[in-house]
Amino acid sequence: MTMTPHKIGLLLCAGLGVVTLAGAAAAQYERGYPYRSGEETYQRLCQGCHMPDARGATGAGAYPALTGNRKLQTPLYPVLIVLRGQKAMPPFSDLTDQQVADVANYIRSHFGNSFAGQITVDQVKGLRARAVGKNDQRPG
Ligand code: HEC
Repeated sequence: MTMTPHKIGLLLCAGLGVVTLAGAAAAQYERGYPYRSGEETYQRLCQGCHMPDARGATGAGAYPALTGNRKLQTPLYPVLIVLRGQKAMPPFSDLTDQQVADVANYIRSHFGNSFAGQITVDQVKGLRARAVGKNDQRPG
């Protein structure tokens, strides 16, 4: 096919559109994952192990239920687990502070959970600096 200036122009426009959209999304949600809500992050990253209803599973391993899990009462507990991982759960430290706060708030307020308190982006930032610093000794 011959590339008329018109076609080239169309291709350029399409390309620029994609780049602009990606740039806007990157501002807040850069790092490793494009997820824009706690729900999306849960569905893409967490439910494979913890199950879509968050009731967990046992089989080749034991995946704890997050529904009715009283450990989630402590707001920063899920933040710490997500940032650092624990035993058979890998760390998800490539999520942004916003994404970690969103997914922690999501699991604390869905699946029948209604734990008090909202986790803020600043709290995640603070905990990340303390708990996932460069002198951190990762278990395993
Ligand atoms: C590869 C499987 C896997 C994935 C993916 C995973 N988890 Fe886990 N998760 C586990 C396992 C296994 C444990 C139990 C770890 C242990 O033995 O202490 C756990 C523990 C937890 C706990 C602590 C529960 C408790 O009772 O102490 C929380 C909170 C949690 N996960 C949240 C998440 C969130 C949020 C995500 C997604 C960002 C996620 N997990 C993704 C496997 C997974």
